[in-house]
Amino acid sequence: MIFTELNSEKCKSYLIGCENEKSAILVDPISSKVDRYLAVLGYHGLKLEFVMDTHTHADHRSALSEMSALTGCKIARHALSPQPNTDVHLDDDDELTIGDVSVNIISTPGHSPDSLSLYFEGRVLTGDCLMIGGTGRTDFAGGDAGASYDSIVNKLFTLPDNTRVYPAHDYRGNTESTIGYEKAHNPRLAGKSRDEYIVLMTNLGLPLPSKIQEVMQVNASENQDTEIDYPSISELNKVWQVSPAELHFQMSADQPPVIIDVRDPSEYDGDLGHISGAIQIPLNTLPVCYTELEAFKDSRIVAVCRAGVRSTTAAAMLTALGFSRVTNLSGGMIAWKRWSPAKSEVVE
Ligand SMILES: [Fe+2]
Repeated sequence: MIFTELNSEKCKSYLIGCENEKSAILVDPISSKVDRYLAVLGYHGLKLEFVMDTHTHADHRSALSEMSALTGCKIARHALSPQPNTDVHLDDDDELTIGDVSVNIISTPGHSPDSLSLYFEGRVLTGDCLMIGGTGRTDFAGGDAGASYDSIVNKLFTLPDNTRVYPAHDYRGNTESTIGYEKAHNPRLAGKSRDEYIVLMTNLGLPLPSKIQEVMQVNASENQDTEIDYPSISELNKVWQVSPAELHFQMSADQPPVIIDVRDPSEYDGDLGHISGAIQIPLNTLPVCYTELEAFKDSRIVAVCRAGVRSTTAAAMLTALGFSRVTNLSGGMIAWKRWSPAKSEVVE
């Protein structure tokens, strides 16, 4: 097996390759290093089978789409990932095989809902869930300190103690650790109860990454910031979120809300289906096509997408454009479809 970290900086990208079959997976590639990845793949004579992110990143632009366009490899992401343009959705117990190497997927939410870890050959890539001497922050949208504790303690810490740990980031120059060492020495976890961990994570008071506004929304939507003037974090935070149950209730009212689905056409007609009567306006066309919604300026509007991330952007944009009653379907069509009473409203 070939295994190497390719960036030599705080953001880590890992290459997992099979020497016999000459196939590979690239994990967490960043857009500024694409030439380097292609060179390393070429040097080893590896065919890239999969490219994937351990979660939606907030601090760097992902290179998944670019690597896929250049090599023809498949894009794999967590089943709860907000992005379009995904070939393989992954969840607990899924496996990716490259030649002789089997990579087991462990869903490890907490830092984000779409966080996953990769376990293979005595190693685990932990994304921003378990880090060396730390854990991934849980204060971004969708973060959950309790889920982070459960992912680490109930899943990652059940791996053999000698499992080598490779996180997606390290800010202190570390390159690897082990499950046993982190269990015994990680200052956020060793000797801490779940409640103590939640209090600790809730009071970290960390500043937001400097590029979070431009990076996270670009990564989540795959629309470049040349296409969209993205809302600020404070504008996003003001968007009122409605649950599937609330939306279902609103839809039975005398004046039901106008539902705007901002996914791409292939998703609207894809496996998650769409809500009956939803108006489809892809997010990247909203800056122009919002004029089609002029009649609904004072109507109740609910924005919808795959996981509720792109539609939060859309809801903030519409609010800034003078639409007065815009809300967002929390969790998007994934949550809507899981909420079984609403299934009758889905057009497959
Ligand atoms: Fe992260």
